[in-house]
Amino acid sequence: MAEFSVRPAQPEDSEAVFQLFADWQASHFGEVEIGPEMFATTLAGADSVFVAETEDGIVGHADVDGGWIGLGVAPAARRRGIGTALLAEAESAATTDSTWLTGLRAEPAAAAFAAASGYEKAWEVWLMGIDLPEDISEPQWPEGVTVRTYGGEEAEAREIKDLLDLAYAEEFHHHPATFENWSRFMFDDPMFDAGVWFLAVADGKIVGAALNWDEGYIKDLVVHPEWRGRGLGKALVYQTFAEFKRRGLPRVTLKTDSNNPTDAWRLYERVGMRKERTYEIFQKGSAG
Ligand SMILES: CC(C)(COP(=O)(O)OP(=O)(O)OC[C@H]1O[C@@H](n2cnc3c(N)ncnc32)[C@H](O)[C@@H]1OP(=O)(O)O)[C@@H](O)C(=O)NCCC(=O)NCCS
Repeated sequence: MAEFSVRPAQPEDSEAVFQLFADWQASHFGEVEIGPEMFATTLAGADSVFVAETEDGIVGHADVDGGWIGLGVAPAARRRGIGTALLAEAESAATTDSTWLTGLRAEPAAAAFAAASGYEKAWEVWLMGIDLPEDISEPQWPEGVTVRTYGGEEAEAREIKDLLDLAYAEEFHHHPATFENWSRFMFDDPMFDAGVWFLAVADGKIVGAALNWDEGYIKDLVVHPEWRGRGLGKALVYQTFAEFKRRGLPRVTLKTDSNNPTDAWRLYERVGMRKERTYEIFQKGSAG
């Protein structure tokens, strides 16, 4: 068996790790969806990152965020136990009882590796997308609701973060980030643009939000529990579509969970989005 070692990643490994990830994306999707900058931001936000090294250099990486583990091994280095060794390090750095792995359904190794590592499939994540049509429906705001974009004040950012935590609280796997980590992740991203952060306001309070990346990605769509069922989510999506159309973008995408307690995918299908890609989430340990 070829020699390899696993160690915590150093800042200077970032480029090699990005290259592994970029090669993997290119082989599956024919393109790399995020740039080195955003990748570095994501890694910087992780609790820990490990790399596996052989005499050929870095051939694998694992990152841990709470109980979430991301893992990849270069094709030429697979089936030598490197994935298993990285996973063991990642699991011991995890801060939750359960741990989760994400695999692309189209990647045959993922489900086999997850099963061999004691994981069970828990749910799916769908990438949904739409080619923006010529005519986009006018947003219909519920009575008393007005829309504006994010103004950049910290108090407002905290109100948005509280709304996200409240709206996502029902998802058992949600572990709220600190305000500092969340702000860094959102505001330092090259795709952040306050002009596509739409806030629905009623009686001076933020009751819904569509937080979008400027490249045509709906990062978060949330409606306060007391404001659900009145078309507010749909209005926020149409507002988003209209702005991206005005900016000349051809497509809008997002990711949503199969076990989302509000069945958000139904709303996305209602506005014309379709499931384009499936990821499987594998879990080890008890839920909650
Ligand atoms: C999944 C992945 C990380 C596995 O890395 P790896 O270093 O090849 O894994 P290991 O050598 O430690 O494999 C451990 C066991 O998993 C199973 N396994 C791994 N890949 C497999 C495959 N392609 N087919 C069948 N079983 C496989 C086997 O039981 C293997 O043990 P064995 O080789 O003794 O039979 C790697 O294929 C990869 O990077 N895939 C792309 C990224 C990805 O999908 N990550 C998400 C993982 S859920």
